[in-house]
Amino acid sequence: MERIAREAGGVIAEYFAQEHKSVSIKNGDTTDLVTETDQWVETFVRDQLRAFKPDWAFIGEESSDPDVAIPMDPVWIIDPIDGTTNFVHRLPEVGVSIGLVVGQIPVAGVVFNPIRKQMLSAVQGHGCRLNGSPLVLDTSDRPLNQCLLMTQFINYGGQRSQRFTQIDRLLDVPVHAIRFIGCATMALGYVAMGVADCYFERGLKAWDMAAAVIIIREAGGVVVDYSGADHIDLTRRECVAARNMTIAKEILDVVNSS
Ligand code: IPD
Repeated sequence: MERIAREAGGVIAEYFAQEHKSVSIKNGDTTDLVTETDQWVETFVRDQLRAFKPDWAFIGEESSDPDVAIPMDPVWIIDPIDGTTNFVHRLPEVGVSIGLVVGQIPVAGVVFNPIRKQMLSAVQGHGCRLNGSPLVLDTSDRPLNQCLLMTQFINYGGQRSQRFTQIDRLLDVPVHAIRFIGCATMALGYVAMGVADCYFERGLKAWDMAAAVIIIREAGGVVVDYSGADHIDLTRRECVAARNMTIAKEILDVVNSS
């Protein structure tokens, strides 16, 4: 998986620097972008994975329905370029994400930012690695007023302003800062790295979460849904990932409060 992500990343990095890219919009939504590079990378990754495991299913952002059911049998779930809008504008928070899901549970994953050259990878029961070295998260507690949060409010279904009311509630919480980096897989990766203390988002798709969930868990962090359950249903489009359960619960209390 790392080799495939690295090769795909090489192509992303090559096109990243171009100011003018071939961009289309999806489903008439001018905030949902796709480039020729997204499509090329998805085909490349799919062909490579099929050559390795011809019978395993494949779900990819550019060729699958966001509401596709996740099978019980092994399935690769990939996002060829997470952070497409960043890619289009040359903001270096982008990632290629390849997750392996078995029994609807993420069991292996790779997230690679080819611009920052950060390769996160994990296999269930075998820990997490950053650029080949073991990555172990410091899960000790810290007060919210020393935390860095990350989130995103996408225009999913034209509900950006509605979603923004969630942040209203957070504005009163004295955290160090709340960052919107526009790339869910890398934001989740920053939780695994201990850079961000928590990432939460409603509107995520399975390909935004599949690889990152196992990466965070294997690093030692927690990933729950908005009800606080740690069985992540990849079709539920939501997660709260944090350094530890105390922080996850504190953020859940805030975003779920009416
Ligand atoms: C999106 C980005 C964004 C997040 C969305 C994702 P895309 O992925 O990760 O930060 O808020 O939920 O769908 O469209 O750039 O691959």
